[in-house]
Amino acid sequence: MVKVLFVCLGNICRSPTAHGLFQAYVNNAGLSEDIVVDSAGTGAWHVGESPDKRAQSIALNKGYDISHLSGRQVERDDFLRFDYILAMDTQNLHDLSNIKPAQSKSTLGLFLAFANKDTAGKSIAGRVLDVPDPFYGGAEHFEKAIQLIETGAKNLLARIREEHDI
Ligand code: 4NP
Repeated sequence: MVKVLFVCLGNICRSPTAHGLFQAYVNNAGLSEDIVVDSAGTGAWHVGESPDKRAQSIALNKGYDISHLSGRQVERDDFLRFDYILAMDTQNLHDLSNIKPAQSKSTLGLFLAFANKDTAGKSIAGRVLDVPDPFYGGAEHFEKAIQLIETGAKNLLARIREEHDI
């Protein structure tokens, strides 16, 4: 069983989008018994909330329903349970590094550092491997975020399948 946790700041825009899309790809590949998917935020402002309406609607436009997801904050136990803890941006990664317990065996890194390249080696992002925070932006910021996440989540699944032979 491979366990993957996506983390952003609020757990209402980027990480639930990654959670919902990656879960859809896992399900479509018939791997829901092999890969566990979850998401969380470094902040606690939106605990218990549904994803941001703008994130929900842009995901639904592309055929992904993320309305059932609920915000939660990263907790110590996550570092002991998850194999991959993937941060949406550099600040999230920095914040996670600061609270990662010494005994954690989780692989902690930037989502796009794991998911930037497809199996042919083609990159989806440049030198900056952040999924920019769309929260204070407009529709185009949510569009940019879901584009990176959609391709990134497909690349990530291919990489995990290869690494774990599943
Ligand atoms: P997310 O976006 O980290 O992609 O969920 C944000 C959501 C909420 C806030 C910031 C970013 N906030 O400041 O409340």
